Amino acid sequence: MENIKSYIKEHKDRFLNELIELLKIPSISADSAYKNDVLKTADAIKLSLEEAGCNIVEICPTDGYPIVYGEKIIDKNLPTVLVYGHYDVQPPDPLNLWDSPPFEPIIKSTALHPDGAIFARGACDDKGQMYMHVKAMEFMTSTNQLPCNVKFMIEGEEEVGSANLATFVKNNQKKLKNDVILISDTGMIAKDVPSITTGLRGLSYVEVEVTGPNRDLHSGLYGGAVANPINIITKMIASLHDENNHITIPGFYDKVEGLSKEERAEMAKAPFSLDAYKKALDIDAVYGETGYTTNERNSIRPTLDVNGIWGGYIGEGAKTVIASKAYAKISMRLVPHQDWEEITKLFTKHFMAIAPKGVKVKVKPHHGGQGYVTPIDSIGYQAASKAYEVTFGKAPIPQRSGGSIPIVALFEQELKSKTILMGFGLDSDAIHSPNEHFGIWNYLKGIETIPHFYKYFAESFK
Ligand code: BES
Ligand code: MN
Ligand code: MN
Repeated sequence: MENIKSYIKEHKDRFLNELIELLKIPSISADSAYKNDVLKTADAIKLSLEEAGCNIVEICPTDGYPIVYGEKIIDKNLPTVLVYGHYDVQPPDPLNLWDSPPFEPIIKSTALHPDGAIFARGACDDKGQMYMHVKAMEFMTSTNQLPCNVKFMIEGEEEVGSANLATFVKNNQKKLKNDVILISDTGMIAKDVPSITTGLRGLSYVEVEVTGPNRDLHSGLYGGAVANPINIITKMIASLHDENNHITIPGFYDKVEGLSKEERAEMAKAPFSLDAYKKALDIDAVYGETGYTTNERNSIRPTLDVNGIWGGYIGEGAKTVIASKAYAKISMRLVPHQDWEEITKLFTKHFMAIAPKGVKVKVKPHHGGQGYVTPIDSIGYQAASKAYEVTFGKAPIPQRSGGSIPIVALFEQELKSKTILMGFGLDSDAIHSPNEHFGIWNYLKGIETIPHFYKYFAESFK
């Protein structure tokens, strides 16, 4: 992999322009108005995999958006790396908070990205990070340095729960057979503090509906005499945490893995500045479960958060009304061993139980998935660690992330292989938020590091 640096230098502009073209297509999986754009993105990915040297590339239909599958098998006796990524993106809303349109990528420099960053929805999550693998593949095939077999599986429904990917994986065990799964869809601690993600949280996502009277009422004529669904829903939600910010759902913590003192001490070694954290978010204090640090609260501890709440009159001016219904969308981030379907049931049972007389409550489960932890002594982790040592000049720190990629646990269950999460994004890249961006330095560093992973991984089978 000697000449990877010079290859990147020579092709840098093209690498950026290709990604920019991909980012122009609004592949928003959550919104059916963008169906054609999502499909167009799958076609673009197919073409890019062909150009990168895959000898079989197919668009595999599913009940939802297709999965782009590509492979290059050079020798059946060599190990196989399966790359997973997603070509769909989150909706860009709220649009008015973007400094430039989300699907008109532009390069701007920032304090953390003095070499420039690409601003666009999907720049980091996950088109930019996924495309690093396509370009790393191009490098390895065009310079005859591909040391093992490669398979790509790029899906278009990650941001909406990957329901069809699960079926695809179950039905295509042989096709997807591999020795390690490689994903870049997470972050790292800092540009000078490389890290490999060793854990992901699970997720249970539900929507609740509280109904009071059968119609919206005059808040003077009826106020005080009937249950107001908005008053009630907020009270119910508030009761889901106690004064220590523990979640009050009975049984919620039963399977939560307690980390040993040693493990927590190891975690605490990761560089972290509470002041910088508060400053970046413009908050005067952090907030969370008593007895845990900020990094513990957002990685090894489960959470419950309202993601959206609505009901009643929110137009201009004032309308005196007691709404008939109130709603909220609630996510619970789970840690390994908590089963998301069981947690969804516990939530539902509890939420129904705490409803006062005078309202009716419905709980609608959306999607969910299990958490994931992976050991640092696997061949894959060790190969990744060596790759970072070459390109960053230091060993990466294992880090548990608070985010979720629910399909990873299913990969391990169905395909029996470990996943290595080599993320190159930064928390400040604003994924899912307005002004999402991905540093050019990070993008190129990813392209540089990936081929080294292949080399060390293949070598460990000799
Ligand atoms: N790439 C993210 C997950 C992520 C980001 C993990 C940063 C760790 C660090 C992924 O695209 C995502 O957004 N996942 C969703 C879950 C999904 C079921 C919608 C999430 O975590 O909210
Ligand atoms: Mn992602
Ligand atoms: Mn995402």
